[in-house]
This record gives sequence, structure tokens and C-alpha cells, in this order.
Amino acid sequence: MDKFTIKDMNLYYGKFHALKGVNLNMPKNQITAFIGPSGCGKSTLLKSLNRMNDLVEGCKITGDIRLDGEDIYGNIDINILRKRVGMVFQKANPFPMSVYDNIAYGPRTHGIKSKAKLDEIVESSLKDAAIWDELKDRLKKSALGLSGGQQQRLCIARALAVKPEVLLMDEATSALDPISTGKIEELCLKLKNQYTIIMVTHNMQQALRIADNTAFFLLGKMIEYGNTDQIFSNPREKETEEYITGRFG
Ligand SMILES: Nc1ncnc2c1ncn2[C@@H]1O[C@H](COP(=O)(O)OP(=O)(O)O)[C@@H](O)[C@H]1O
Ligand SMILES: [Mg+2]
Repeated sequence: MDKFTIKDMNLYYGKFHALKGVNLNMPKNQITAFIGPSGCGKSTLLKSLNRMNDLVEGCKITGDIRLDGEDIYGNIDINILRKRVGMVFQKANPFPMSVYDNIAYGPRTHGIKSKAKLDEIVESSLKDAAIWDELKDRLKKSALGLSGGQQQRLCIARALAVKPEVLLMDEATSALDPISTGKIEELCLKLKNQYTIIMVTHNMQQALRIADNTAFFLLGKMIEYGNTDQIFSNPREKETEEYITGRFG
């Protein structure tokens, strides 16, 4: 079943045509990766999925993007959309507060006040993000004192705390060492049983290791989309082949 469907989507930043006629369906409980050279529109497309581009002045989107069949640019409550579709960025961005308060922040803004309930959410979110054991004795300590890899898993835990259905990850491991990257990749493979994951990665090996489906973009166009193994072993398009064999980008 498809979680997200994108039909004939175009995006303009003012006069600049940043995404051109994109058609793409992303299945539920799978990992879909967006790859392609810098500036081809990967982040732009990802941000369109929870309407982060609404914040960009002059940004215009045409076409049709649906979440579980519902038009996300129609009559939808944006706060509910962003709760359903969470996001993790390239640079870990913990709030300058304790580990506990980082995780409890979202649930609190959604009205959860009970300490017992918040305790439970903090524990289960940190467990889901595979970082409970490392942090359970430092819940009251500042999140800014954690290592980069721990901060990024904390941000994943924070995203999970509001019980999203989809997790968008924009080059979420590109600032991390190989061990932290490996932990987050393992985590994604575990999380996809419960969530749908859509990730931008600059690292083709990462797409190959964990993504079920891969979409290749070039200059605002989606050139090719398919099963990850097929894209990397037997690309249909010449541009895809040139990119994956390292001839550009
Ligand atoms: N807020 C913005 N305003 C104007 N142009 C933008 C904005 N964000 C991105 N762009 C342009 O859109 C294109 C795609 O950018 P982006 O989605 O960030 O690419 P990628 O993530 O693939 O590197 C680039 O040419 C970039 O300069
Ligand atoms: Mg980007």
C-alpha cells in the first residue's frame, strides 16, 4: 500500500522551477531513498511532504500530493499533518534543555500533562531510537552535552515521541562517524516495521544498504525510480548509470 502519492508535481521558488513533473508513490512500511547531485531538489521534495515549504516566501506548488489518499495541500490541519509526518535534519538540533524535556516537548504541546504518561513516552521513544540504555541515567542532563551521534538519535526519539506515521530524514547521518551512522541505519531498518521512512542521502552505499526503493533526481526531474537493487544493478536510464558509477555528482 502507498503511504504517499505524488502526481504531476511542480514546485517553483519564485520564477525558478525547482521540481518538474514529479510522479512518485512511496509504499507504507518501507524505506524510500532520494539520491542525486547537490541542488537537484531532494530536500525540496522531502520538505513538500510535510509542507515545510509553506514557510518559504514565493514558493508555489502545483499537482497532487496525498497521504493515505488525502490531499495534503487541500483542507488539512497543518499541525496534524506535521504530527503525522515528522522530520529529522542533517545537523542534529536538540533544544537547549534536558534530554527528558527534549522528548516531552512535543507531547506537552499536544496537551499531555500527566507525569506518568510523559515518563512513559520518554522511555518508549528513547528505546525506539535505540538510545535508552545510554541516556537513562542522564535524563535531567542537558542534551547539548551529548555526542553528535547521540544527539541525532535523541532527535529521532523526539520525532517519534508524537507518534508520527512517516519519518522524513534529510541527510540525517552525513555529519556522523561510521559507527553512529551504522546505529542509525540499523535503527531505520527496525523502525520501518512501524513507520514509513523517506530519506535523502548523499551516500549511495547507504541507499543500497537500507532503502527498499530509490529515486534518482537530476536538475529538478525525477529520472528513475524503482527497487533499490534494480536501480543500482540495472538502471534503465543512462543518467542514472552515470551517476551511480561515479561519473558525476
Ligand atoms: N528557499 C529557497 N529559495 C530559492 N531557491 C531555493 C530554496 N531552497 C532551495 N532552492 C534551490 O532549489 C534547488 C534545489 O535545492 P534543494 O532541494 O536544496 O537540493 P538538494 O537537497 O538536492 O541539494 C537548488 O537550485 C536550490 O538553490
Ligand atoms: Mg538537500
